Amino acid sequence: MDATQPGGPGIDWRECAFDLTRGIAAYIGNPLVGRLARVIAEHPDANISTAFNHKQVACKMWARDRLLDHCGARLGRVWIVGGWYGVLAAMLFDDARFDIAAIDSIDIDAGVAPVARTLNAPAGNRFTAMTADMYGLDYAGARPDLVINTSCEHIADLPGWLALIPKGTRVLLQSNDYFSEPTHINCVASAAAFEEMAGLTEVRFSGALPLKNYMRFMLIGTV
Ligand SMILES: C[S@@+](CC[C@H](N)C(=O)[O-])C[C@H]1O[C@@H](n2cnc3c(N)ncnc32)[C@H](O)[C@@H]1O
Repeated sequence: MDATQPGGPGIDWRECAFDLTRGIAAYIGNPLVGRLARVIAEHPDANISTAFNHKQVACKMWARDRLLDHCGARLGRVWIVGGWYGVLAAMLFDDARFDIAAIDSIDIDAGVAPVARTLNAPAGNRFTAMTADMYGLDYAGARPDLVINTSCEHIADLPGWLALIPKGTRVLLQSNDYFSEPTHINCVASAAAFEEMAGLTEVRFSGALPLKNYMRFMLIGTV
């Protein structure tokens, strides 16, 4: 095969994606994009193309911007539950507007922590990936400054989970109205319905982001 024309049935798309992602990282000088290339190389089974698709990235950029507006730059110790491959953690560390003491990314799926560590390696010991059920964490003992859950559509009992977090703790929550996806067990129809379900003591931000097939909803406030 002509090396200048890759293609055909034998082509390994991951090698192409790795080369392309490394090239984009070099061109734009962005370490996070370089780490995506490492994830493609080291975790060939990770579904990173879904976790970093344009809709997922848009939701997380929205989260970063509104977080800065409503909670300021100093985030302290952040817990991200249902943190998946650690994309949001990496995007927060990548954003020079923030001053972040540490981020712990916690997910019930043991398969995602190694990927999250690869993606967040530049953060060193400021980043931890843990395997745990978000319902089983000791929020009162650990007292994180901010708890983020962008996987609210994936958990059955949002009020029951929020009740585990000490009163006054800042939270950022995202859900959606993508009812047709089978893994979404607890969607909401509107931002107002999300507010009602969460029952936060204080709501600093409540909004909706239109995406191609669904609406993303976000709340920032305190439990
Ligand atoms: C598909 S992903 C994330 C989707 C979301 N849009 C996002 O980017 O944040 C949902 C994650 O929640 C995790 N998850 C579901 N239930 C959980 C629980 N009880 N404790 C911790 N993680 C959980 C899953 O393992 C999965 O990695």
